[in-house]
Amino acid sequence: IRVFVPSDAAARACGADEVAIALRAEAQRIGVDIDLVRNGSRGMLWLEPLVEVESAGVRYGFGPVEASDVPGLVAAGLFTAPASVSGPLAIGPVAEHPFLAAQQRLTFARCGVTDPLSLDDYIAYGGYKGLQRALALGPLGIVEEVTKSGLRGRGGAGFPTGIKWKTVHDTPGAQKYIVCNADEGDSGTFADRMIMEGDPFQLIEGMTIAGIAVGATRGYIYCRSEYPDAIATMRAAIVTARRAGFLGARVYGTDHAFELEIREGAGAYVCGEETSLLESLEGKRGLVRAKPPLPAHKGLFGRPTVINNVLSLTAVPHILADGAAFYADYGMGRSRGTMPVQLAGNIRYGGLFEIAFGITLGELVEKIGGGTASGRPVKAVQVGGPLGAYFPPALFDTPFDYESFAKRDGLIGHGGIVVFDDTADMALQARFAFEFCAIESCGKCTPCRIGSTRGKETVEKIIAGEDVDRNLEVIADLSNTMKFGSLCALGGFTPYPVTSAIAHFPDDFRRSARLPA
Ligand code: NAI
Ligand code: SF4
Repeated sequence: IRVFVPSDAAARACGADEVAIALRAEAQRIGVDIDLVRNGSRGMLWLEPLVEVESAGVRYGFGPVEASDVPGLVAAGLFTAPASVSGPLAIGPVAEHPFLAAQQRLTFARCGVTDPLSLDDYIAYGGYKGLQRALALGPLGIVEEVTKSGLRGRGGAGFPTGIKWKTVHDTPGAQKYIVCNADEGDSGTFADRMIMEGDPFQLIEGMTIAGIAVGATRGYIYCRSEYPDAIATMRAAIVTARRAGFLGARVYGTDHAFELEIREGAGAYVCGEETSLLESLEGKRGLVRAKPPLPAHKGLFGRPTVINNVLSLTAVPHILADGAAFYADYGMGRSRGTMPVQLAGNIRYGGLFEIAFGITLGELVEKIGGGTASGRPVKAVQVGGPLGAYFPPALFDTPFDYESFAKRDGLIGHGGIVVFDDTADMALQARFAFEFCAIESCGKCTPCRIGSTRGKETVEKIIAGEDVDRNLEVIADLSNTMKFGSLCALGGFTPYPVTSAIAHFPDDFRRSARLPA
């Protein structure tokens, strides 16, 4: 009998390892032979640890399970007749759960289903079909296919991936690189981590296809050190892929060489910015470089470099396997394909929800996410990380796509949505935005280095009720300077949370002193 307990870091943080130990012990005690698979997470995080038991080809779910629940579940027939086990932890056939059934999973199709480190599983569930087709298409054919799919950079900026690849393809260079940005620093985001822990071969396949497309023979995954499980899983998967001939001097028995390594960051948010990431990868301090030159022309060690987010690269195998038209069929306007949306903060059903672009923000927060975990009304949601704008419920009709958010002075960024209830104080959130920028600034340019600190001080004056109108004008002026005068998005985007908080929640800026001690 096959039993699944996620090895995903979120599930482990909730006690999945202890649950796995308890399940093994109980199986041994009653003399049942179980095949315990440590799968990735399905992304229904409020149900973690989610135990699944397979019976007649159907996987029945139970969650959130604690180690102390295991003897009772087993006595009720967990190993022998999981379908008939009832009670508050039984969620029925997992694939039919409304949270999963409502999704359009492409990137996350295998995540939570397979054993992340089983190459056999990966191949049995459609893995490496993309690479096979890519090899048949050849470099320019691959670039054309990715361009036609409409895939845009999932790191946040939404730049067309095909155009980026074409630039690197067309730039001469004896050595080119593929760099995967896995420095997922945005608040409320965890999709990169989940996919690296739950389906690591998909990233390896996506990077290999990118390498063949642009003529790069080396790849680096730059992963934040706060993701030790993802790093360990990726390392193990790279070894397996290499042994099986999917990496190395002759990828898949062809003349294409592609080698891959993982490098750890050291905890700076700004190292998620592509040029400081490259500096860090070169062993230097993570200072932002001025652009141009673009990394596509002069990137890692001054060589032409494709630098893409984990989610952009993991979308590629599907585009190649199923065709550009299949992928482009999902979505709306210029936002094609699917987006792994991450629901976090004060939300009832937090987790990973992959869906075609176009679903409204309100549907995601209220219908899928079930509103706040506290049960209080939603006051605001921050979309796109700590530098994203706050949206009030009045804007919940905004479709989730790049252009619709931009039209309303927001950004979808890396797809993180953080929910706040009506106890949130938006003036304190504005102060936090400046404070965050001050702490994380690389210090290279003045608007960000000085502006963030002055901004924090000015919001504190407003909170203290000091000359509020004048200080709001100072914030508006400062935000303008930071937006247009900063060298990178850290300083340039800090005004988004600040000005959206002021625009949508003006009352919070006109109350008397309430700074935290
Ligand atoms: P950008 O707009 O400057 O560049 C986007 C990408 O397109 C870059 O890779 C750039 O090199 C490339 N590019 C631009 N023009 C090109 C051309 N003509 N040919 C080839 N390539 C070209 O945006 P940036 O500063 O790289 O990213 C900002 C975004 O990062 C924000 O939208 C923000 O949401 C996101 N972000 C994401 C975080 C995360 O944890 N994933 C953290 C912080 C910010
Ligand atoms: Fe560095 Fe901030 Fe300037 Fe970016 S905006 S280069 S983080 S000082």
